[in-house]
Amino acid sequence: MTIMRPALASLLRRTPFAATSAVLFVLSACTTTTGRTPAPLTTSGSTPTARVATGDGDRSAVRTPDARMERFVDSVLAGLTLEEKLGQLTQYRGQFGLTGPQTPEAGAVDIRAGRVGSFLGVVGAAVTREMQRVAVEESRAKIPVLFAHDVVHGFRTIFPVPLAEASSWDPAAVQRAARIAAAEGAANGLHWTFAPMVDIARDPRWGRVVEGSGEDPYLGSVMAAARVRGYQGNDLRDSLALIASVKHFVGYGAAEGGRDYNTTDIPARTLREIYLPPFQAAVNAGARSVMASFNEIDGVPMHANRALIDGVLRDRWGWDGILVSDYTGVMELLNHGIGGDTATVGRLALDAGIDVDMVSKIYFSYLPAEVRAGRLPLAAVDSAVRRVLRVKYEMGLFADPYHHSSEARERALTLSPAYVAEARDMARRSIVLLKNSGGALPLSKSLGTLAVIGTLADDARSALGNWAAVGRPEDAVTILAGIRQAVGSRTRILYAQGAPVDSADTTGFAQAVRIARQADAVVLVLGEHQDMSAEARNRASLDLPGVQLQLAQAVVATGKPVVVILENGRPLSIPWLADHVPAILETWYLGVQMGPAVADVLFGDANPGGKLPVSFPRTVGQVPVYYNHKNTGRPPDERERYTSKYLDVPWTPQWAFGHGLSYTTFAYEPPTLSATQLTMGDSVVVRVALTNTGTRAGDEVVQLYVRDDVGRVTRPVKMLRGFERVSLTPGERRTVSFTLRPRDLAFYDLDMRHVVEPGTFTVYVGGSSVDVREARFRVTGTTMVVPDRGLIP
Ligand code: BGC
Repeated sequence: MTIMRPALASLLRRTPFAATSAVLFVLSACTTTTGRTPAPLTTSGSTPTARVATGDGDRSAVRTPDARMERFVDSVLAGLTLEEKLGQLTQYRGQFGLTGPQTPEAGAVDIRAGRVGSFLGVVGAAVTREMQRVAVEESRAKIPVLFAHDVVHGFRTIFPVPLAEASSWDPAAVQRAARIAAAEGAANGLHWTFAPMVDIARDPRWGRVVEGSGEDPYLGSVMAAARVRGYQGNDLRDSLALIASVKHFVGYGAAEGGRDYNTTDIPARTLREIYLPPFQAAVNAGARSVMASFNEIDGVPMHANRALIDGVLRDRWGWDGILVSDYTGVMELLNHGIGGDTATVGRLALDAGIDVDMVSKIYFSYLPAEVRAGRLPLAAVDSAVRRVLRVKYEMGLFADPYHHSSEARERALTLSPAYVAEARDMARRSIVLLKNSGGALPLSKSLGTLAVIGTLADDARSALGNWAAVGRPEDAVTILAGIRQAVGSRTRILYAQGAPVDSADTTGFAQAVRIARQADAVVLVLGEHQDMSAEARNRASLDLPGVQLQLAQAVVATGKPVVVILENGRPLSIPWLADHVPAILETWYLGVQMGPAVADVLFGDANPGGKLPVSFPRTVGQVPVYYNHKNTGRPPDERERYTSKYLDVPWTPQWAFGHGLSYTTFAYEPPTLSATQLTMGDSVVVRVALTNTGTRAGDEVVQLYVRDDVGRVTRPVKMLRGFERVSLTPGERRTVSFTLRPRDLAFYDLDMRHVVEPGTFTVYVGGSSVDVREARFRVTGTTMVVPDRGLIP
């Protein structure tokens, strides 16, 4: 068999930048049924009798049909030639530079000929207006085109990278950030963003951990929904709304070895309980687009995975938006070894449910002949075109194709002071205080001399992080500049680079040590530059790159008080720093206002309240290390040899999921439950009181975890099922309550039924996944099947 090798390399492009819920079973809605295979109660597969909820089942994303829209879409579809239909399913990459204003002649020819339905990477009110004019005035079908771009954490006003925003545990703030990103992008002519990225990542070697919300499906679901609401607003017809594209469907973060694009090995139960929930949350929140992922699952590449795309997304969840391929994803089926020739992979992808072919141009070039030869039903093409036309209609583009292309709005909104102020607020909320021995932080603003050391302290481009859309380094305030602004003339600031981020060059050490010796305190900025995380930027080591650790050791050896600011796109293994440096702030990449936000926290104008959305391993050898692991038959016990642990490092992470300190302290009281004996179907309210026992106002993220103590399949030791970020003044006491509903306790049983089983459940409440107080309740009655409408329906 001859496999056509696509000219992949020529298409792969990247510029450096492109780069409580409540337990409420409605008893009347449930019927009692007998299980399929009654069997004795052994561990090997009996199916207990279970009640089953009726109704729409798992179809959480079904929308009310709009008859008027359907008539309109049918009438447009009826007037299209086969080629024009496939044109609607074709997405071109912009050939015109990112910001116009030149008339994109090459694009215009294709638009005029009806060969293209959407563009990736063409931005600017003027250029998009001109291209839209060609579409609606000069093409035969007169269908407006969509302009798409990766607006991931800001368009021009760059916000913290998604992992940083997730560290805020503040969905309202994250939603605001996405709203602003959408408004700015839409004012620059865009209709569609390829965000949010909701891939669960348990392996920090994978470069794309920076783009998501970390390791947990509940936190990931909350963040996914917040971002979708932010991007899309209340109404897609709003000129400042962007279509959200949830990506990458699905399992992409499970790449073996942390190597991007790699094969995954995901058990069906893990897929449903860990990887799918953030997608379901996003489509429940109304996301109108989903992007397929590059990986395969169980031998089937996602671009040909009918069972998951048509089966789960469309049939089981009832979702009807646009499914877009990833960049050349359709063509890459050839490399996966599926299909064998270009026409076949095009057919396979369309048949699996991929509506839009990004960049490969296979649909347009090969599928007309496949339809004419009877190998591809026209109905499959029509369904995909309908989905594209519906979204164009929902955006109001048939009524006003130009409503995102306003140069006045573009001028008024781009990098507006109000947006920049929001970026600073979001940045402050995203910072995590990992360690603070002896109150080393905050620093006084009237220190005589402060040494700032580290290349990253003065790296504006890294401050923006990867996937910074059209962000510019000159818009960003570096950490060094932020510190200078904050202290004014009262403190002398000395700066030395010390060492490049990722080379073995130690020539700058001497100067770094010299200024440290002259200073009253040292701020040492360490980590990874922005191009070391995101797509295809995987690392086999999680250590500080280059000679930064040695630099830190030389600086600490001066005996001066040192605080470390980490700037990085993934959890790093930094045991030496954890042991030898009194204070460590995790800042990730915070965007245009990185410097001021870091200075706010460094000098105590803001009190850090972020928490880790990912565990920090002690060494890469522990990976994967995540909080919601299984107990095993031999749970780790440092005193017992034959238990699940290591000889050379503790089995625990350096810093656990949910960890983060404050300049104040919080004392938790034991949680109380509304009931400790529940009948199957009841909800239980968990209340916990906490008091700010320190001297500063501060934020605490109260976290609720639950464990199903005994199941017919093993359950994780903890599962996050609620959280709330609260602000407390000194001495203030607050009670936070969470309601646990059946869906919060449910899991996929031996027969892959989504059930709650009777038995005991342990509830843990506290300020991190390991710093918790517990309570227990029992659910009595019969196993109940509950619809799986996601963790946040
Ligand atoms: C990435 C996607 C991105 C697309 C378009 C791909 O390489 O995997 O996340 O949306 O490019 O830029």
